[in-house]
Amino acid sequence: MGIKIVGIGSYVPERVLTNFDLEKIVDTNDEWIRTRTGIQERRIASDTEYTSDMAEMAARRALEMAGSFADQLDLIVLATVTPDTRLPSAACHVQRKLGARSAACFDFQAACAGSVYGIELVTAMMKNNRKYKKALLVGCEKLSSVTNWSDRNTCVLFGDAAGAFIFEKTKESGDTLLASVISANGADYEMLWIPGGGCQLPLTKENVDSNLQYIRMEGNKVFKIAVTSMVNSCHEVLEAAHLKSEDIDWLIPHQANMRIIGAVGERLKIPTEKVISNLWKYGNTSAASIGLALDEAARSGKVKKGDRLLLTAFGGGMTWGSSILRW
Ligand code: UT7
Repeated sequence: MGIKIVGIGSYVPERVLTNFDLEKIVDTNDEWIRTRTGIQERRIASDTEYTSDMAEMAARRALEMAGSFADQLDLIVLATVTPDTRLPSAACHVQRKLGARSAACFDFQAACAGSVYGIELVTAMMKNNRKYKKALLVGCEKLSSVTNWSDRNTCVLFGDAAGAFIFEKTKESGDTLLASVISANGADYEMLWIPGGGCQLPLTKENVDSNLQYIRMEGNKVFKIAVTSMVNSCHEVLEAAHLKSEDIDWLIPHQANMRIIGAVGERLKIPTEKVISNLWKYGNTSAASIGLALDEAARSGKVKKGDRLLLTAFGGGMTWGSSILRW
């Protein structure tokens, strides 16, 4: 028996917000954003397009690639920090929209490390429970709903998107996931967080007037820790898989900043041609970013069956992790 990823899909909203559009909203400019981040544009969901709508679209594309139907799903897991509602989970909304009646559903959050956490989680759940034969994992965010559009430190960075994976238990032995390492450090949570909206600081008028419902980030502190943590966890996961960085066909890092991606690739001695990035057109889409990058790379024929992929991510929590997949 093996737990395989047999389908992948992604979705981005139609509306494009360029750096030039942002110049009209905050005191920023295209040159600063491009040179400091690598981002040129991002997608923004409409007011009536929710996290579960984007997840549903990505899931339908992944199901189609897998040749599967929604009512065959036994498990739906969503990684998100922007669920449609506090209750029920966004996964339950996705189940309803897909018509996946018999699936177990829940959300979890590991911020930008959501996909890497989720791949380990779903693989382990399927291994440990005979009930789960087909599962859907979606990393999905409507970050525009928690972005402070008057804070130039953060509003130029984020975008909305979804990236979905279909897992299947197959008769063929060997898992798609060869090795995984996930970690966190809750002590540094204030470097990247949303203070309001939980039970600590509920959305009272006073808290909303103080913009506590929006993402706050100490960018350059996060930058340094992100590089070190991703590089260290890549070394750990390579060791766990008894592989070296030259055995990797593609590095697919979380898409937060071109300079972070460059530094991680360089320290791992993985040449730029083997590093997948679509950050310039989508910005940082948190839990969606790795699924979105992998989906585009797989559909364009860049990533081929049998390739060894090294995924790595870092996000709020702080959370981070790396996984190696045999595609
Ligand atoms: O996905 C989860 C993990 N998140 C990340 O990995 C993000 C990590 N951090 C970053 O990507 C970068 O730190 C940023 C892109 C957020 C910022 O880049 P930076 O090179 O670290 O810039 P900085 O924060 O040190 O700011 C440099 C200057 C400041 O001005 P002064 O104090 O030097 O006069 C900022 O006020 O750039 C200014 N600045 C801007 N200027 C124009 C900050 N944001 C902007 C902006 N446009 N949007």
